[in-house]
Amino acid sequence: MEKTKVGIVGLGNVGSGVARLLTEQSARMTRHAGQPLELAKAVVRDLDKPRDVTLGPNVLTNDLKEITEDPEIRVVAQLIGGTEAARQVMLELLESGKDIVTANKALLAEHGPELFDRARALNRSIAFEASVCGGIPIITNIGQCLSANQITSLSGILNGTSNFIVSRMEQEGADYPAAVAEAQRLGFAEADPTMDVDGTDAAQKLSILAHLAFGARVDWHEIPRIGIDTLDAADLRYARELGYRVKLLAIAKLNGELELHVSPTLVRAGRPLAEVREAYNAVTVVGDAVGNVFFHGLGAGQMPTASAVVSDLIDTAVGRTRITFRTLELWSGRPPRVTLGDHAQARGRYYLRFTIRDSPGVLGDIAGVLGGYDISIASVIQHEPEVQGEDELVPLVIMTHLASEGAAQSAIEEIDGRDYTLQPSVRMRVLD
Ligand SMILES: NC(=O)c1ccc[n+]([C@@H]2O[C@H](COP(=O)([O-])OP(=O)(O)OC[C@H]3O[C@@H](n4cnc5c(N)ncnc54)[C@H](OP(=O)(O)O)[C@@H]3O)[C@@H](O)[C@H]2O)c1
Repeated sequence: MEKTKVGIVGLGNVGSGVARLLTEQSARMTRHAGQPLELAKAVVRDLDKPRDVTLGPNVLTNDLKEITEDPEIRVVAQLIGGTEAARQVMLELLESGKDIVTANKALLAEHGPELFDRARALNRSIAFEASVCGGIPIITNIGQCLSANQITSLSGILNGTSNFIVSRMEQEGADYPAAVAEAQRLGFAEADPTMDVDGTDAAQKLSILAHLAFGARVDWHEIPRIGIDTLDAADLRYARELGYRVKLLAIAKLNGELELHVSPTLVRAGRPLAEVREAYNAVTVVGDAVGNVFFHGLGAGQMPTASAVVSDLIDTAVGRTRITFRTLELWSGRPPRVTLGDHAQARGRYYLRFTIRDSPGVLGDIAGVLGGYDISIASVIQHEPEVQGEDELVPLVIMTHLASEGAAQSAIEEIDGRDYTLQPSVRMRVLD
């Protein structure tokens, strides 16, 4: 029987999971691919490091040439992290005639156009299902299964680490540093979780999804983003009191132009996105023909990510990827179908929390400033003062009606300049 020889570059967390599926579930792979997928080579840096997978003799190597110079290896899973070394490896693999599967979204967000151009010029393919939302097949669904639709919006919890941290803050009342420490202890956050918690990871994934779903060619750096790293447990409590949950949402909304942003958002309780807990990811997609579609699952972790990588390996081995890659809009030469709107003009409802001195006339003044920016108030919660040092701090929570981003920001800046404002105010978008 004919077989496809497969290479892996990077045998870390994901690479080991891929190797396990290929070696331990080979009968299943043969059934789906119609031929065996044989793991021929796995490239690592350190040959002496213990691996949690048992490989055949001569499979492990620290020399990429054992893949690039073996014409029998047709398909390679590129599973090293970072961008520079990974970019170099991808180019070498393409030049040597390999079709590639990757899980590296940071690499694609930085160098996608160059790598896809090169792959197209060389008549090769790149499959990348695992790069966004790990085990959830969102790339295939948006790129293929929903292609009869004009997608009008996409709202996603795209970063499991942030969702885990916010869930712990909400469920256990933990403050941010304690929730991060717990996420690190349980393996849900890296030693340096910056790119997860500051919104970078979600923005990189959103730039890929926005291109697939809307034909928007957007550099992830252009996407306005706020992370969860400044989130205060008090806001999660007030949000709950108001009937909402706070989630780090990545939003893409088509309204003539495209609105894109990543920020902690109050999501109305009962909406599927509001109930996504722990390290899970989820995406709601709205299409003009299909209506609402909701995807939920593990967006990271060894086996969920390996699940997506191996299904891409099978698709590549049987020739499906080559067809979809040829028609894929992502980083193709086609002109963008939409432009990015001015973020200051984007409209939404807002949750605002002011920390003010308890004195007469303050509420009226705040209402006056908001009114001056055409922002009307939907509801107000004012709790008893808390004493901190010599000051009595009053938390004042206001939910607004629809307002523009620019107006909300200017109003907050003006109120933060008043002498009755004792701490910087908090502003979050609301998804009803
Ligand atoms: N972990 C997840 O849940 C997850 C989910 C979705 C996507 N991803 C993406 O998948 C990729 C891999 O993640 P991971 O968690 O598996 O990373 P990892 O555990 O750090 O593993 C990286 C592997 O790459 C190897 N490597 C690094 N630089 C190399 C080089 N220049 N040449 C050859 N091998 C090299 C390392 O070799 P040594 O072992 O010898 O050091 C290691 O085996 C990343 O891009 C990540 O963003 C991960």
